[in-house]
Amino acid sequence: MQLYLDTGDIQEVEEALAMGVLAGVTTNPTLLTTRGPVDFRDTIQRFCAIVPGPVSAEVLATSHAEMLVEALEIGRWAPNVVVKLPMTVDGLKTLHALREREANISTNVTLVFSPNQALLAARAGATYVSPFVGRLDDISHDGMAVVRDSVQIFDQHGIPTQVLAASVRHPLHCIEAAKAGAHIATMPFRVLMQMVKHPLTDLGLDRFIADWVKSMGEQGVVTPVAGTVR
Ligand code: E4P
Repeated sequence: MQLYLDTGDIQEVEEALAMGVLAGVTTNPTLLTTRGPVDFRDTIQRFCAIVPGPVSAEVLATSHAEMLVEALEIGRWAPNVVVKLPMTVDGLKTLHALREREANISTNVTLVFSPNQALLAARAGATYVSPFVGRLDDISHDGMAVVRDSVQIFDQHGIPTQVLAASVRHPLHCIEAAKAGAHIATMPFRVLMQMVKHPLTDLGLDRFIADWVKSMGEQGVVTPVAGTVR
């Protein structure tokens, strides 16, 4: 399972890239405007320039005609941009029209809350479908079941659309999504950091350093300047 960041913050993207774990980015209108108004095109193009993988950018129009114009425009912003379309009748029509006209524009159908929606989006030609796990959990539904069922249906019927587990809220969601066979999980930077952390790792490291310094003294520690062990 590939790991994406769900963010509108370029510094978070840079940090995850530096760790070598980032395969792509998803954004949405909420995430992009967390800190106020932004230049949509400029922000997405800056993301696309540094991410060596897909970057999802969501259309804002809701009618098919307007959505198609917007989708064609976004699709021209960068070679790795993915046009994110909502799971509505107009969204499906736009997806279908895009497939007919611009076969090389990748698409991500967002706001998917059932396996039937995932199947419809896949049949209309989506590159990715995004089941929203956390928002389903929030209303006492089993969000991960949509990921599991969509993966099974796609596998069983040889459907190439990738399942992108979205609305990930905590590290357990990542484990469950990976076990369910999701191709991708997109998560907030906070969750990525939670995945890194384990209290026993921190304790173990503190103890190693303390034992070393107790025996060798401070001068026994590699210095950042010299880069050598004395
Ligand atoms: C996915 O592409 C969405 O941007 C996202 O995962 C929504 O998550 P939320 O429910 O935490 O807002």
